[in-house]
Amino acid sequence: MQLSGKSAIITGAGFGIGRAVAVEFAREGAFIVITDRNQPGVEETAHLVRTEVPDARVCVLSGDLLDAGLALHLVELCLSESGRVDILVNNAADQTVATLARETDEHWERVITVNVTAMMRLARAAEPHLKSGAAIVNMSSLTGNVALPGRLAYNTSKTAIIGLTRALAVELGPRNIRANAILPGHIMSVGEEVWKERISERDQKIFPTTYALYRVGHPREVARAAVFLASEEASFITGHCLAVDGGGGILNPEEAIFRTAALFDGGTPTATPDSDDWKPNATGN
Ligand SMILES: NC(=O)c1ccc[n+]([C@@H]2O[C@H](COP(=O)([O-])OP(=O)(O)OC[C@H]3O[C@@H](n4cnc5c(N)ncnc54)[C@H](O)[C@@H]3O)[C@@H](O)[C@H]2O)c1
Repeated sequence: MQLSGKSAIITGAGFGIGRAVAVEFAREGAFIVITDRNQPGVEETAHLVRTEVPDARVCVLSGDLLDAGLALHLVELCLSESGRVDILVNNAADQTVATLARETDEHWERVITVNVTAMMRLARAAEPHLKSGAAIVNMSSLTGNVALPGRLAYNTSKTAIIGLTRALAVELGPRNIRANAILPGHIMSVGEEVWKERISERDQKIFPTTYALYRVGHPREVARAAVFLASEEASFITGHCLAVDGGGGILNPEEAIFRTAALFDGGTPTATPDSDDWKPNATGN
């Protein structure tokens, strides 16, 4: 077990990726404090963890990350129940969207507070208690590097998380405390069945075309990356942005366009040249 004897605080654990992180951390032997503003959701996660891992040690503290005091409460709970804090998984996010024209100061501040400031607050609250070997894992996104339109605050927050992660890594590195970010691609956080119900058949075919692996991801695939980055297996990795995106961040857009076009007009399914006309020896070059 990779996290045996470690204590972790996991935010946004009432749903999707955070729920999967809670299960995987418990499987790996960690004591976990899980939190979310969605109380039924986080209680359900605790139930799932106890079902999947009968000897799991799990504590729930529901709360809103807009509340500046939540970070201290989480750290106090983790300390009082386990005597230590070793790992922070800053996973919660406000994914509400607004175009520039519709953006309000109130919405902007809310997204930045939940997605970025709350990560800093938890790190700040935990910092005096973190010992050599501790690790921080921050959930950024593929959109931290490549933006989607109409999500100004979200895109900005996910890029800021990359900067925050590097700053934490540099500041805490001399104490052998690591900080890394995960950049997930499109993940079926609602579960594959519900995802297929919610996404049109057309879009279910389009989404995978932008990923090298030609598919979207599962929450557990992100959770396993979080286990790795939090564990001793990643002892010399810090300030890193780990893409868990099926190659969504490295696929040349030309390929995605060919794949998508092929879906609809039966054309060439790849940008890879395969006709003799394209071969160097056919043109003499
Ligand atoms: N699902 C994806 O395709 C995807 C892709 C890239 C990055 N991510 C990132 O992964 C993380 C998890 O994503 P997800 O899709 O599994 O879930 P999500 O982003 O929809 O929500 C995660 C949890 O955060 C909680 N949350 C939101 N606002 C909160 C607040 N103010 N206080 C406390 N809790 C709050 C929600 O209740 C929810 O349970 C997020 O950081 C997200 O940005 C997800």
